Amino acid sequence: MTTDSPLAPAWLEVPADLNALHEPLWAGGVARNGDGELTIDGLTVSELQRQYGTPLFVLSESDFRARARAFSDAFNDAFADICGGVDVYYAGKSFLCTSVVRWVEEEGLRLDTASGGELAVAARAGIPGADVALHGNNKSDGEIHRALDMQLGRIVVDSLDELERVATIAANRGDTARVMLRLTPGVHAHTHEFIATAHEDQKFGLSMAGDTTDQAGLSAAEEAVAAATRHESIELLGLHCHIGSQIFEPDGFALAAEKLLDFLAAMQSKYSIVLPELDLGGGYGIAYTPVDTPRPAAEIAQAMAAVVRSKCAALGITAPRISIEPGRAIVGSTTFTLYEVGTLKTVRVDAPAVGGDNAAGDVTYPRRYVSVDGGMSDNPRPVLYDADYSAILASRSSDAAPQLSRVVGKHCESGDIVVRDVYLPEDVAAGDLLAVPGTGAYCWALSSNYNYLARPGVVAVSDGSARLIVRGETEEDLLNRDMGV
Ligand SMILES: Cc1ncc(COP(=O)(O)O)c(C=O)c1O
Repeated sequence: MTTDSPLAPAWLEVPADLNALHEPLWAGGVARNGDGELTIDGLTVSELQRQYGTPLFVLSESDFRARARAFSDAFNDAFADICGGVDVYYAGKSFLCTSVVRWVEEEGLRLDTASGGELAVAARAGIPGADVALHGNNKSDGEIHRALDMQLGRIVVDSLDELERVATIAANRGDTARVMLRLTPGVHAHTHEFIATAHEDQKFGLSMAGDTTDQAGLSAAEEAVAAATRHESIELLGLHCHIGSQIFEPDGFALAAEKLLDFLAAMQSKYSIVLPELDLGGGYGIAYTPVDTPRPAAEIAQAMAAVVRSKCAALGITAPRISIEPGRAIVGSTTFTLYEVGTLKTVRVDAPAVGGDNAAGDVTYPRRYVSVDGGMSDNPRPVLYDADYSAILASRSSDAAPQLSRVVGKHCESGDIVVRDVYLPEDVAAGDLLAVPGTGAYCWALSSNYNYLARPGVVAVSDGSARLIVRGETEEDLLNRDMGV
């Protein structure tokens, strides 16, 4: 009989069935087979390990395509009567390779990039430049040239300084740069909450607050609009904002949309211009653990559309064409990471350390450390953001009792945690495979070679077969750049 461990966080429940898959965490096509082993599209995880090794990112291509379509359909339906639909830019920073660019294009989405390297992937994949946006708070001149060479649909300008550089570079080339201005509306959102502030203290974007520049009364955002309209080499398409990440509620998006529409209407009237586009960024949340309950895309889209519809009517303006930039919401849940278990150890933690009663003597509780063959080099999010994940025993099912466990990596950092708190069967042993779902976004993309670990490959599964879309690094790759001089 197992009860909650006092060491577990309040949100973590002992699962009724440790072998069950909590559906919102997993890509479509993931199941247990008759032998109890985890499969994706019928392929067993042990077969995937034999062919590709571990750690391994296992991504469902059909699930990626389905999520991209579902997101795009939900927003297009909601905004159809307002601005004829929505342009969905997949945020490549979440996970990018040439296969993904092709899927994005085939599903009718566009691509958001944030560096010359991401533009290089886009170019190699052959997506038309018109369907690509370039972000970044510190674009190099080379990146701006590359964006113009590729005739990008939009460069999202982040500062007054950059606006001048883009204008000059484009003018010197006899070119025109299609520009969106990234504004900071003072709305910051995360999961269920958002805060609204008048002032901005962050590196991104042009502040909408009125007293942040030396020109009396003009915000940086307005200065940028005024400057953009003066430059013949700039075609000012519109405005952009991005208010945060892992957001479940529509309220923050709605407030940001209202603020930007107020500003857009004011700028159109004051400068006698038309700003035909408004980008409301990304940040739509996904489930990482069973307590995460993101709203369906349609619900968020409808709530945002209602606000845009009524605000434009109240302002008496034609609604701009809306675009959004989801990354995590498309790729996050398509992928799980497969790890092999190595060393196990159990420590005992004092009751007082967890607020327990130790009056009667030495009361301690067990916490088991389950080490796997990867860690913070393939998923730094727990270290960077205290991000929570979930994990299951994947290579077999088990009837053993649940035991509070901490899945840790193999790096030389005590903070090298993969899953901080999870109940796993107490018979988990070296050689077992664990699967951690929800690792499609900002894991491979943020991976490193810390401790000279080779970065894992990414396998895409579709129609019952698997293929590498990014091969894993080899020791040769790791040594290649060491000049040895
Ligand atoms: C400007 C911009 N757009 C879109 C995104 C994508 O966010 P998410 O993957 O949370 O949807 C980000 C993420 O940081 C971003 O900075």
